[in-house]
Amino acid sequence: MASKTTVEQRESAVPVQNDPDILNAAARLAGEDLCSIADLSSAEVRAILKLGHHVKRDPRAYRNALDAKQMVLMFEKASLRTRLSFEAGFSTLGGNAIFVDHTSSPLGERESIADVARNVERWVDIIVLRTYAHDTITEMAARARVPVVNALSDFEHPCQALADFMTLEEHFGSVTGLNFTYVGDGNNVCHSLMMTGAQLGANVTVATPRGYSPDIEIVTKAREIAEANGCEVKLLQDPQVAVENADAVYTDVCVSMGMEHESTKRAPIFRPFQVNEALMGKARENAVFMHCLPARRNAEVTDAVLDGPQSIVFDQAENRMHAQKALLLLLLGGLSNVKNFSF
Ligand code: CP
Ligand code: NVA
Repeated sequence: MASKTTVEQRESAVPVQNDPDILNAAARLAGEDLCSIADLSSAEVRAILKLGHHVKRDPRAYRNALDAKQMVLMFEKASLRTRLSFEAGFSTLGGNAIFVDHTSSPLGERESIADVARNVERWVDIIVLRTYAHDTITEMAARARVPVVNALSDFEHPCQALADFMTLEEHFGSVTGLNFTYVGDGNNVCHSLMMTGAQLGANVTVATPRGYSPDIEIVTKAREIAEANGCEVKLLQDPQVAVENADAVYTDVCVSMGMEHESTKRAPIFRPFQVNEALMGKARENAVFMHCLPARRNAEVTDAVLDGPQSIVFDQAENRMHAQKALLLLLLGGLSNVKNFSF
Protein backbone atom coordinates (compact mmCIF):
# COMPACT_ATOMS: atom_id res chain seq x y z
CA MET A 1 0.00 0.00 0.00
CA ALA A 2 1.26 3.48 -0.86
CA SER A 3 2.58 5.68 1.94
CA LYS A 4 0.35 8.50 3.06
CA THR A 5 2.98 11.25 2.87
CA THR A 6 1.25 14.07 1.06
CA VAL A 7 2.62 15.72 -2.07
CA GLU A 8 2.85 19.00 -0.08
CA GLN A 9 4.88 17.36 2.71
CA ARG A 10 7.37 15.95 0.22
CA GLU A 11 7.66 19.21 -1.68
CA SER A 12 8.18 21.31 1.41
CA ALA A 13 11.23 19.19 2.33
CA VAL A 14 13.09 20.43 -0.77
CA PRO A 15 11.82 23.57 -2.49
CA VAL A 16 11.04 22.86 -6.11
CA GLN A 17 13.67 25.43 -7.19
CA ASN A 18 16.45 23.44 -5.48
CA ASP A 19 15.18 19.95 -6.22
CA PRO A 20 18.08 17.99 -7.72
CA ASP A 21 15.76 15.79 -9.82
CA ILE A 22 14.22 18.90 -11.41
CA LEU A 23 17.54 20.70 -11.93
CA ASN A 24 19.15 17.62 -13.48
CA ALA A 25 16.09 17.00 -15.67
CA ALA A 26 16.12 20.63 -16.81
CA ALA A 27 19.75 20.27 -17.88
CA ARG A 28 19.33 16.90 -19.61
CA LEU A 29 15.92 17.33 -21.25
CA ALA A 30 16.32 20.79 -22.81
CA GLY A 31 16.03 20.31 -26.57
CA GLU A 32 15.14 16.59 -26.26
CA ASP A 33 12.16 14.66 -27.68
CA LEU A 34 9.55 12.63 -25.83
CA CYS A 35 8.58 9.76 -28.13
CA SER A 36 8.33 7.13 -25.40
CA ILE A 37 8.31 6.90 -21.63
CA ALA A 38 11.50 4.87 -22.16
CA ASP A 39 13.19 8.13 -23.25
CA LEU A 40 13.04 9.23 -19.58
CA SER A 41 14.91 7.98 -16.54
CA SER A 42 13.08 7.31 -13.28
CA ALA A 43 14.51 10.54 -11.84
CA GLU A 44 13.23 12.47 -14.89
CA VAL A 45 9.73 11.02 -14.49
CA ARG A 46 9.81 12.06 -10.83
CA ALA A 47 11.02 15.52 -11.86
CA ILE A 48 8.18 16.03 -14.35
CA LEU A 49 5.62 15.01 -11.74
CA LYS A 50 7.12 17.17 -8.98
CA LEU A 51 7.19 20.14 -11.32
CA GLY A 52 3.66 19.31 -12.47
CA HIS A 53 2.37 19.48 -8.88
CA HIS A 54 4.06 22.84 -8.40
CA VAL A 55 2.82 24.25 -11.72
CA LYS A 56 -0.69 23.20 -10.73
CA ARG A 57 -0.43 24.86 -7.32
CA ASP A 58 1.30 28.06 -8.46
CA PRO A 59 0.56 28.59 -12.17
CA ARG A 60 1.38 32.30 -11.96
CA ALA A 61 5.02 31.57 -11.18
CA TYR A 62 5.38 30.09 -14.68
CA ARG A 63 3.19 32.52 -16.59
CA ASN A 64 5.79 33.95 -18.97
CA ALA A 65 8.30 31.12 -18.89
CA LEU A 66 7.75 30.25 -22.56
CA ASP A 67 7.07 33.78 -23.77
CA ALA A 68 6.57 33.96 -27.56
CA LYS A 69 7.44 30.28 -28.10
CA GLN A 70 5.54 28.60 -30.93
CA MET A 71 4.09 25.08 -30.81
CA VAL A 72 2.54 23.13 -33.66
CA LEU A 73 0.13 20.26 -33.01
CA MET A 74 -0.26 17.93 -36.02
CA PHE A 75 -2.96 15.33 -35.33
CA GLU A 76 -3.93 12.37 -37.56
CA LYS A 77 -6.60 11.30 -35.03
CA ALA A 78 -9.44 12.96 -33.12
CA SER A 79 -8.78 14.56 -29.74
CA LEU A 80 -10.52 16.53 -27.03
CA ARG A 81 -8.29 16.36 -23.93
CA THR A 82 -4.87 16.25 -25.55
CA ARG A 83 -5.45 19.09 -27.97
CA LEU A 84 -7.08 21.41 -25.45
CA SER A 85 -4.70 20.63 -22.59
CA PHE A 86 -1.68 21.35 -24.80
CA GLU A 87 -3.20 24.50 -26.27
CA ALA A 88 -4.50 25.93 -22.98
CA GLY A 89 -1.35 24.91 -21.08
CA PHE A 90 1.04 26.40 -23.62
CA SER A 91 -0.89 29.64 -23.71
CA THR A 92 -0.74 29.98 -19.90
CA LEU A 93 3.07 29.67 -20.16
CA GLY A 94 3.16 32.61 -22.59
CA GLY A 95 3.44 30.57 -25.80
CA ASN A 96 1.26 30.23 -28.86
CA ALA A 97 -0.12 26.93 -30.22
CA ILE A 98 -1.08 26.24 -33.84
CA PHE A 99 -3.27 23.23 -34.64
CA VAL A 100 -2.94 21.42 -37.99
CA ASP A 101 -5.65 18.86 -38.68
CA HIS A 102 -4.16 15.78 -40.36
CA THR A 103 -7.19 13.54 -39.87
CA SER A 104 -7.88 13.46 -43.59
CA SER A 105 -4.30 13.60 -44.89
CA PRO A 106 -1.79 11.52 -42.91
CA LEU A 107 1.65 12.93 -42.25
CA GLY A 108 4.09 11.93 -44.96
CA GLU A 109 1.42 11.68 -47.67
CA ARG A 110 1.62 15.16 -49.26
CA GLU A 111 5.35 15.47 -48.69
CA SER A 112 7.95 13.42 -46.85
CA ILE A 113 8.19 13.64 -43.08
CA ALA A 114 11.79 14.83 -43.50
CA ASP A 115 10.62 17.74 -45.65
CA VAL A 116 7.81 18.59 -43.23
CA ALA A 117 10.41 18.65 -40.42
CA ARG A 118 12.77 20.89 -42.38
CA ASN A 119 10.00 23.42 -42.95
CA VAL A 120 8.28 23.35 -39.59
CA GLU A 121 11.49 23.68 -37.54
CA ARG A 122 12.05 27.09 -39.17
CA TRP A 123 8.86 28.48 -37.61
CA VAL A 124 8.15 26.65 -34.39
CA ASP A 125 9.99 25.68 -31.21
CA ILE A 126 8.26 22.34 -30.60
CA ILE A 127 6.25 19.78 -32.59
CA VAL A 128 3.46 17.76 -30.93
CA LEU A 129 2.22 14.77 -32.94
CA ARG A 130 -0.74 12.40 -32.71
CA THR A 131 -0.33 9.61 -35.24
CA TYR A 132 -1.23 6.08 -36.23
CA ALA A 133 2.30 4.78 -36.87
CA HIS A 134 4.75 5.27 -34.00
CA ASP A 135 7.51 5.47 -36.65
CA THR A 136 6.02 8.74 -37.89
CA ILE A 137 6.87 10.25 -34.50
CA THR A 138 10.36 8.78 -34.25
CA GLU A 139 11.13 9.80 -37.83
CA MET A 140 9.99 13.38 -37.18
CA ALA A 141 12.09 13.38 -34.01
CA ALA A 142 15.13 12.18 -35.94
CA ARG A 143 14.68 14.80 -38.68
CA ALA A 144 13.55 17.93 -36.82
CA ARG A 145 15.99 20.16 -34.96
CA VAL A 146 13.29 21.07 -32.42
CA PRO A 147 11.77 18.79 -29.75
CA VAL A 148 9.04 16.37 -30.84
CA VAL A 149 6.41 15.13 -28.36
CA ASN A 150 4.28 12.01 -28.75
CA ALA A 151 0.67 13.01 -28.09
CA LEU A 152 -0.45 9.40 -28.80
CA SER A 153 0.60 6.88 -31.39
CA ASP A 154 -0.63 3.32 -31.88
CA PHE A 155 2.23 2.23 -29.61
CA GLU A 156 2.35 4.72 -26.74
CA HIS A 157 0.65 7.62 -24.98
CA PRO A 158 3.37 8.98 -22.68
CA CYS A 159 1.72 12.31 -21.78
CA GLN A 160 -1.35 10.41 -20.57
CA ALA A 161 0.70 8.16 -18.30
CA LEU A 162 2.59 11.09 -16.77
CA ALA A 163 -0.68 12.84 -15.91
CA ASP A 164 -2.16 9.60 -14.56
CA PHE A 165 0.67 8.94 -12.13
CA MET A 166 0.63 12.61 -11.12
CA THR A 167 -3.05 12.06 -10.27
CA LEU A 168 -2.21 8.96 -8.25
CA GLU A 169 0.46 10.89 -6.34
CA GLU A 170 -2.12 13.56 -5.60
CA HIS A 171 -4.52 10.94 -4.29
CA PHE A 172 -2.15 8.62 -2.40
CA GLY A 173 0.79 10.95 -1.65
CA SER A 174 3.32 8.50 -3.09
CA VAL A 175 3.01 5.72 -5.63
CA THR A 176 6.00 3.71 -4.41
CA GLY A 177 4.68 0.27 -3.54
CA LEU A 178 1.21 1.11 -4.87
CA ASN A 179 -0.63 -1.78 -6.54
CA PHE A 180 -1.68 -0.51 -9.97
CA THR A 181 -3.89 -2.81 -12.07
CA TYR A 182 -4.72 -2.28 -15.73
CA VAL A 183 -7.61 -4.32 -17.14
CA GLY A 184 -8.40 -4.46 -20.87
CA ASP A 185 -6.51 -4.05 -24.13
CA GLY A 186 -2.71 -4.18 -23.94
CA ASN A 187 -2.53 -1.05 -26.07
CA ASN A 188 -0.73 2.30 -26.33
CA VAL A 189 -2.03 3.62 -23.00
CA CYS A 190 -1.26 0.35 -21.25
CA HIS A 191 2.32 0.41 -22.62
CA SER A 192 3.07 3.89 -21.30
CA LEU A 193 1.42 3.15 -17.94
CA MET A 194 3.47 -0.02 -17.45
CA MET A 195 6.78 1.78 -17.90
CA THR A 196 5.78 4.86 -15.90
CA GLY A 197 4.51 2.75 -13.01
CA ALA A 198 7.71 0.74 -12.98
CA GLN A 199 9.80 3.92 -13.06
CA LEU A 200 8.01 5.19 -9.98
CA GLY A 201 8.24 1.94 -8.00
CA ALA A 202 4.60 0.88 -8.35
CA ASN A 203 3.64 -2.79 -8.74
CA VAL A 204 1.94 -3.05 -12.12
CA THR A 205 -0.47 -5.88 -12.94
CA VAL A 206 -1.98 -6.10 -16.41
CA ALA A 207 -4.92 -8.37 -17.24
CA THR A 208 -5.79 -8.73 -20.92
CA PRO A 209 -7.64 -11.30 -22.99
CA ARG A 210 -5.38 -13.88 -24.64
CA GLY A 211 -4.02 -12.36 -27.85
CA TYR A 212 -4.32 -8.77 -26.56
CA SER A 213 -1.39 -8.68 -24.18
CA PRO A 214 1.05 -5.77 -24.29
CA ASP A 215 3.93 -5.77 -26.75
CA ILE A 216 6.80 -8.00 -25.63
CA GLU A 217 9.35 -5.20 -26.15
CA ILE A 218 7.43 -3.02 -23.68
CA VAL A 219 6.99 -5.88 -21.20
CA THR A 220 10.73 -6.54 -21.26
CA LYS A 221 11.57 -2.86 -20.82
CA ALA A 222 9.02 -2.36 -18.04
CA ARG A 223 10.37 -5.42 -16.19
CA GLU A 224 13.94 -4.15 -16.49
CA ILE A 225 12.88 -0.80 -15.05
CA ALA A 226 10.83 -2.50 -12.32
CA GLU A 227 13.76 -4.65 -11.26
CA ALA A 228 15.92 -1.55 -10.83
CA ASN A 229 13.20 0.08 -8.74
CA GLY A 230 12.26 -2.87 -6.51
CA CYS A 231 8.77 -3.39 -7.92
CA GLU A 232 7.03 -5.92 -10.18
CA VAL A 233 5.26 -6.10 -13.54
CA LYS A 234 2.84 -9.02 -13.82
CA LEU A 235 0.79 -10.18 -16.82
CA LEU A 236 -2.44 -12.10 -16.21
CA GLN A 237 -5.53 -13.11 -18.14
CA ASP A 238 -8.00 -13.10 -15.25
CA PRO A 239 -9.31 -9.63 -14.31
CA GLN A 240 -10.83 -10.98 -11.06
CA VAL A 241 -7.40 -12.09 -9.85
CA ALA A 242 -5.68 -8.98 -11.22
CA VAL A 243 -7.74 -6.54 -9.15
CA GLU A 244 -7.20 -8.35 -5.80
CA ASN A 245 -5.33 -5.91 -3.53
CA ALA A 246 -5.35 -3.20 -6.21
CA ASP A 247 -5.09 0.41 -5.04
CA ALA A 248 -5.95 1.63 -8.55
CA VAL A 249 -7.95 -0.08 -11.30
CA TYR A 250 -7.47 1.38 -14.77
CA THR A 251 -9.14 0.56 -18.07
CA ASP A 252 -9.22 1.98 -21.59
CA VAL A 253 -11.43 1.41 -24.60
CA CYS A 254 -11.09 -2.04 -26.12
CA VAL A 255 -11.43 -0.54 -29.60
CA SER A 256 -8.77 2.13 -30.03
CA MET A 257 -8.77 4.71 -32.80
CA GLY A 258 -7.93 2.94 -36.05
CA MET A 259 -9.28 -0.44 -34.83
CA GLU A 260 -12.98 0.32 -35.38
CA HIS A 261 -13.24 -2.46 -37.99
CA GLU A 262 -12.62 -4.96 -35.13
CA SER A 263 -15.48 -3.68 -32.92
CA THR A 264 -17.81 -6.63 -33.47
CA LYS A 265 -15.07 -9.21 -33.03
CA ARG A 266 -13.71 -7.57 -29.87
CA ALA A 267 -16.98 -6.96 -28.01
CA PRO A 268 -17.49 -10.53 -26.68
CA ILE A 269 -13.78 -11.05 -26.06
CA PHE A 270 -13.57 -8.00 -23.80
CA ARG A 271 -16.94 -8.42 -22.03
CA PRO A 272 -15.43 -10.35 -19.06
CA PHE A 273 -12.94 -7.48 -18.66
CA GLN A 274 -15.59 -4.82 -18.03
CA VAL A 275 -14.91 -2.76 -14.91
CA ASN A 276 -18.19 -2.84 -12.98
CA GLU A 277 -19.13 -2.58 -9.33
CA ALA A 278 -18.58 -6.30 -8.79
CA LEU A 279 -15.01 -6.10 -10.13
CA MET A 280 -14.25 -2.89 -8.19
CA GLY A 281 -15.59 -4.69 -5.09
CA LYS A 282 -12.67 -7.13 -5.34
CA ALA A 283 -10.07 -4.34 -5.21
CA ARG A 284 -9.01 -2.64 -1.97
CA GLU A 285 -11.76 -0.73 -0.21
CA ASN A 286 -10.15 2.66 -0.91
CA ALA A 287 -9.16 1.80 -4.48
CA VAL A 288 -9.61 4.40 -7.21
CA PHE A 289 -10.96 3.87 -10.71
CA MET A 290 -9.09 5.42 -13.65
CA HIS A 291 -9.71 5.81 -17.39
CA CYS A 292 -7.87 7.96 -19.93
CA LEU A 293 -11.18 8.85 -21.64
CA PRO A 294 -13.05 8.96 -23.92
CA ALA A 295 -14.99 6.05 -22.39
CA ARG A 296 -17.49 3.81 -24.12
CA ARG A 297 -20.03 3.86 -21.33
CA ASN A 298 -21.31 0.44 -20.26
CA ALA A 299 -18.81 -1.30 -22.55
CA GLU A 300 -15.38 -1.37 -20.83
CA VAL A 301 -16.76 0.43 -17.74
CA THR A 302 -20.24 0.84 -16.31
CA ASP A 303 -21.83 4.21 -15.58
CA ALA A 304 -21.95 3.29 -11.89
CA VAL A 305 -18.15 2.99 -11.73
CA LEU A 306 -17.29 5.83 -14.09
CA ASP A 307 -19.56 8.26 -12.23
CA GLY A 308 -19.11 6.65 -8.81
CA PRO A 309 -17.20 7.84 -5.74
CA GLN A 310 -14.04 5.87 -6.57
CA SER A 311 -13.65 7.46 -10.00
CA ILE A 312 -10.86 10.02 -10.46
CA VAL A 313 -11.16 10.24 -14.25
CA PHE A 314 -11.72 14.00 -14.42
CA ASP A 315 -8.75 14.67 -12.13
CA GLN A 316 -6.72 12.66 -14.64
CA ALA A 317 -8.10 14.81 -17.46
CA GLU A 318 -7.30 18.03 -15.60
CA ASN A 319 -3.78 16.88 -14.81
CA ARG A 320 -3.02 16.33 -18.49
CA MET A 321 -2.53 20.09 -18.65
CA HIS A 322 -0.35 20.46 -15.55
CA ALA A 323 1.90 17.49 -16.32
CA GLN A 324 2.35 18.65 -19.93
CA LYS A 325 3.19 22.17 -18.79
CA ALA A 326 5.96 20.69 -16.64
CA LEU A 327 7.20 18.63 -19.59
CA LEU A 328 7.17 21.61 -21.94
CA LEU A 329 9.05 23.76 -19.42
CA LEU A 330 11.79 21.13 -19.30
CA LEU A 331 12.00 20.42 -23.05
CA LEU A 332 12.06 24.12 -23.91
CA GLY A 333 14.41 25.31 -21.15
CA GLY A 334 11.66 27.46 -19.68
CA LEU A 335 12.73 27.21 -16.03
CA SER A 336 15.62 29.62 -16.65
CA ASN A 337 12.93 32.31 -17.04
CA VAL A 338 11.23 31.44 -13.75
CA LYS A 339 12.09 33.41 -10.59
CA ASN A 340 14.32 31.60 -8.06
CA PHE A 341 15.40 28.85 -10.44
CA SER A 342 19.17 29.17 -10.77
CA PHE A 343 21.12 27.49 -13.55
N1 CP B 1 -7.10 10.79 -23.21
C1 CP B 1 -6.93 11.41 -24.39
O1 CP B 1 -5.84 11.41 -24.97
O2 CP B 1 -8.04 12.04 -24.83
P1 CP B 1 -8.25 12.65 -26.29
O3 CP B 1 -8.22 11.52 -27.26
O4 CP B 1 -9.56 13.35 -26.24
O5 CP B 1 -7.12 13.62 -26.55
N1 NVA C 1 -6.32 3.62 -26.63
C1 NVA C 1 -7.10 4.76 -27.03
C2 NVA C 1 -6.73 5.95 -26.22
C3 NVA C 1 -7.50 7.19 -26.50
C4 NVA C 1 -7.03 8.34 -25.69
C5 NVA C 1 -6.91 5.02 -28.50
O1 NVA C 1 -5.76 4.89 -28.98
O2 NVA C 1 -7.87 5.33 -29.18
